[in-house]
Amino acid sequence: MATIHAPLVPVHIAAICGSMRGDQSYTRMALELALAAARSAGATIDLIDLAAFDLPLCSSPQDRDDNLQVQEMKARVGAAQGIFLGSPEYHNSFSGVLKNALDLMGGDEFRGKVFGLLGVAGGNAGAANTLSHLRVVVRGVGGWSLPVQISIPNVRTAFVDGQLVDRGLEDRIRFLGRELVRFTRLHSMVPELEHRLVEIIDEDV
Ligand SMILES: Cc1cc2nc3c(=O)[nH]c(=O)nc-3n(C[C@H](O)[C@H](O)[C@H](O)COP(=O)(O)O)c2cc1C
Repeated sequence: MATIHAPLVPVHIAAICGSMRGDQSYTRMALELALAAARSAGATIDLIDLAAFDLPLCSSPQDRDDNLQVQEMKARVGAAQGIFLGSPEYHNSFSGVLKNALDLMGGDEFRGKVFGLLGVAGGNAGAANTLSHLRVVVRGVGGWSLPVQISIPNVRTAFVDGQLVDRGLEDRIRFLGRELVRFTRLHSMVPELEHRLVEIIDEDV
């Protein structure tokens, strides 16, 4: 078996927060943990808090290309190779704010990128529906969702003074952050390695 010498490629990770509660948002607090882990794993990071944007409602994405807020969001998401999507669970799905933001973007921002999914919920059933629905949307935009995902149930008591009470849950969020960097890096290396891998596979036949 031939050895592959692969340089570590730089990785930029963006997190899109689908809550409008700004720094009160539990979704945002959880995303900040995941982003901190991603930074520790060597990525540069960007928190895209939709509460800080004044986005138009999507009719057709191209209709909104002249909107400065849409342009900024697209540029920041487009610069990332890996993307966290975080949302509160609203009526058994993810927030309409996040759906509108995703609808304003498309393949240029998302295709072929790696996604880490995170949901928070007020109830004890957690954010399973948010995560499943986001997974379907990621497939729709040509992205790759990590198998690992985070659901935070009973979120109003999960955080005290901005800190997660359950250290095990905090560890799992940090793991999600590291996994996104790991798979984004692997995925980003593929174009450089593809040619060599084809050669190696042919050698092994
Ligand atoms: C319109 C609306 C619908 C909601 N629907 C659900 C729900 O279906 N299940 C649930 O567990 N919590 C539900 N919640 C509670 C939110 O998931 C919870 O308040 C969460 O903390 C909000 O996230 P944020 O702090 O990031 O804004 C709902 C809240 C709102 C405002």
